[in-house]
Amino acid sequence: MVKVNILDHPLIQHKLTQIRQKDTSTTQFRQMINEIGGLMVYEITRDLPLEQIEIETPVAKTKANVIAGKKMVVVPILRAGLGMVDGILQMIPSARIGHIGIFRDEETLQPVEYFAKFPEELDQRDIFIVDPMLATGGSAIAAINSIKQRGAKNIKLVCLVGAPEGVKAINEAHPDVTVYLASLDEKLNEKGYIVPGLGDAGDRIFGTK
Ligand code: PRP
Ligand code: URA
Repeated sequence: MVKVNILDHPLIQHKLTQIRQKDTSTTQFRQMINEIGGLMVYEITRDLPLEQIEIETPVAKTKANVIAGKKMVVVPILRAGLGMVDGILQMIPSARIGHIGIFRDEETLQPVEYFAKFPEELDQRDIFIVDPMLATGGSAIAAINSIKQRGAKNIKLVCLVGAPEGVKAINEAHPDVTVYLASLDEKLNEKGYIVPGLGDAGDRIFGTK
């Protein structure tokens, strides 16, 4: 059995159905993938710890809640993960952004890292790795390995659509990483695409082929 959290908020599910459709335009796909990213992170951050600080309103001094600890880090897996970042920043404008460039060799399906740049003090921060697609899990495992090597301890993986094969691979390689999806789909096909999925997320966001 795979260990995964499915975010079934009606707004997330409705928008996911829109972007799955093959005739959805690049403009709409781009907009909705951002909106879903923001809604997912809104749900996931529900339990963040708070601390009280002293503030002064126009009327009186008081104590009020703010999020405790260092700024969170959002790490999109390039390219397609970039499509979720603006939507997430609308929810958490002060988040830091790390980048990791990984593509999947289309023949071997093996991940290849080509870029990595992260904020400092990763060991003290909550980290959200974001990528619309979790297929074999190879790209996400490579990203998690790379970030852990730089000290990260508290990692969440946030994807829109996942295959059972990919979730199982993450659960086995990184049991400490919580996986969040908007949908756990049926399977991978012989080309490593998620079925029913939504096709090639990077190409649909950036209008490439
Ligand atoms: C896609 C997707 C994931 C990866 C998932 O990226 O955005 O990063 O494939 O597949 P996996 O779980 O089998 O590794 P792709 O390699 O197409 O690169 P792109 O984002 O540059 O389009
Ligand atoms: N990457 C994608 O963009 N889509 C899939 O279905 C699988 C991997």
